[in-house]
Order: sequence, then structure tokens, then C-alpha cells
Amino acid sequence: MNHPVSCIVSLDEGPPFGQAELLDVLIPARVWSCRFDTALYQDADYPAAGVALPPAIAGSSIKRRGEYLAGRIVADRVLRDLGYPHFDLLPGADRAPAWPGEVQGALSHHTSRAVCIGWRRPQRDVTGLGIDIETLISGPRTLELWPGIITAQEHALFATVDLPFAACLTLAFSAKESLFKALYPTVQRYFDFLDVQVARLGDNRITLELLVELTPQLPAGMQLECGYAMVGDEVLTVLAIGSKP
Ligand SMILES: CC(C)(COP(=O)(O)OP(=O)(O)OC[C@H]1O[C@@H](n2cnc3c(N)ncnc32)[C@H](O)[C@@H]1OP(=O)(O)O)[C@@H](O)C(=O)NCCC(=O)NCCS
Repeated sequence: MNHPVSCIVSLDEGPPFGQAELLDVLIPARVWSCRFDTALYQDADYPAAGVALPPAIAGSSIKRRGEYLAGRIVADRVLRDLGYPHFDLLPGADRAPAWPGEVQGALSHHTSRAVCIGWRRPQRDVTGLGIDIETLISGPRTLELWPGIITAQEHALFATVDLPFAACLTLAFSAKESLFKALYPTVQRYFDFLDVQVARLGDNRITLELLVELTPQLPAGMQLECGYAMVGDEVLTVLAIGSKP
């Protein structure tokens, strides 16, 4: 970055919070995160950051332009660390970012934070990488949203866990989004929140189970481990498919 980018409040190496809890999953990935404020956003932030503004994003809301930029700024830091300085990380037709051939990566943003994780394929036998950051789903929205996010079995499981239902629901939502990002490059199609369920929810670990076959290598019943951290009203999940932390 040559000039200050007005909407970026801070830019840091590593996940925004929960480092210790997520470490097992993250090693040896590169992770960068930032805080941003869309109220301070201006279009000049794109050239200032050296980020290309795709036409589809140029025509979107200020919120979208701001979060897209924040995501590209953290992705640029990860890509630089992996040997791809100034790589133009464009979105594909399916919205998934088109990472350079040897890189697996994922990014996420909510209203004021963006985070990106990536590594080069040969480093480790990992077939997919996902990350997601969310603000706590709370109050009446939990009642309205849960049937689209979790099964009745997950609902019953969460009643036995030492966490408020809102936290369990947000964790399930975020873990499933991380899983979707990690598996999409392999599965190459949409799959639903109810195609996967939380089988266990422990300290900083969520076990997800596929309820349907996604590919012959991803059969129903397969379990996948997701790391999580929760601070205040923010939740972060990270998932590396095929890793053995
Ligand atoms: C794609 C999706 C997961 C993104 O999650 P989100 O909470 O809306 O937004 P996030 O900020 O966390 O992530 C957005 C980023 O994910 C990435 N992304 C988008 N589509 C993607 C895909 N198909 N595969 C991988 N990454 C994708 C992009 O980098 C995007 O940011 P950008 O558009 O600024 O580049 C979500 O919108 C979605 O479609 N979910 C439905 C499918 C699903 O999750 N099923 C659950 C199966 S268990």
C-alpha cells in the first residue's frame, strides 16, 4: 500500500482473535486480518490500495465496495507472503475468488472486519481451506433463522451444551459457511446448511458431519473438524479439510 486507505482502521498479521485456540488448524497457513469502517470509504481507496475494482463491484453499494476492498487488502498480504505480490484476485462467475494455481485460500468479512487465510498446496496434504467471521445472531432472529441453519437434532444437541443457544447457532452457521468455502472448489455446486450437521460442539472445536454424499470422496457420514474462537459478539471459524493438526 503506497498511500493511506481511508476506510482501513488497522491491518494485522494473524487472525483477529482466538490465536491460541485456532493455532492447530492454522499452522502453517498465512493469515491476515483488518478492521475497516465503510463510513470512511471512498472510491479513491482502490487505487490507493493498488486493488482493481471489478465492474460488478463498482456498481454495488458503498458497504459492498468497502467490504470487497477490505477482503482484497488482507488477501493481498497473504498472497505476498506466499510469493504472489500484486496478484489480481478476481471473483469467478460463482463469486469464489480465483486463487493462483498453487494457492488454497479463503476470505471472509462482516461489517467491520475482514480476514484471509492461505497456503501453497505442496506445504501440506490439504484439500480445502475455509474461514468465516460472523457477528452473533441474537434475540428473535435466532427463532426466525434456526430452521434454515440447523436440524432438529442439532437443536437438541445445543440444549445439552454449556453455551447459549444464540452462540451455538452462530457457530453452526459460521462453521457451515467455512465448510462451504473449503469444499466448493471440489464440489463445484451449491449445497445446503441442512446437508451438514454439527455432531459435537466442544471447547474451540466443532465436528461437522455430512448428511448427504457431496462427491464419492465426500460421502454421507464423513466427519470434518472445524476450529473456532468467540470473543464478545464475534465468532471466527477455520477449517482445513484433510489436515491432521
Ligand atoms: C458464499 C458464502 C458462503 C459466503 O459467505 P458470507 O457469510 O455471505 O460472506 P463472507 O464474508 O463470510 O464470505 C464472502 C467471501 O466468500 C468467498 N466466496 C464467495 N463464494 C464462494 C464460493 N462459492 N466458494 C468459496 N468462496 C466463496 C468470496 O471471497 C467472498 O468475498 P468477496 O465476494 O468479497 O470476494 C454464502 O454467501 C453462501 O452462499 N452460503 C450458502 C451456501 C452455504 O453456506 N451452505 C452451507 C453448506 S454446509
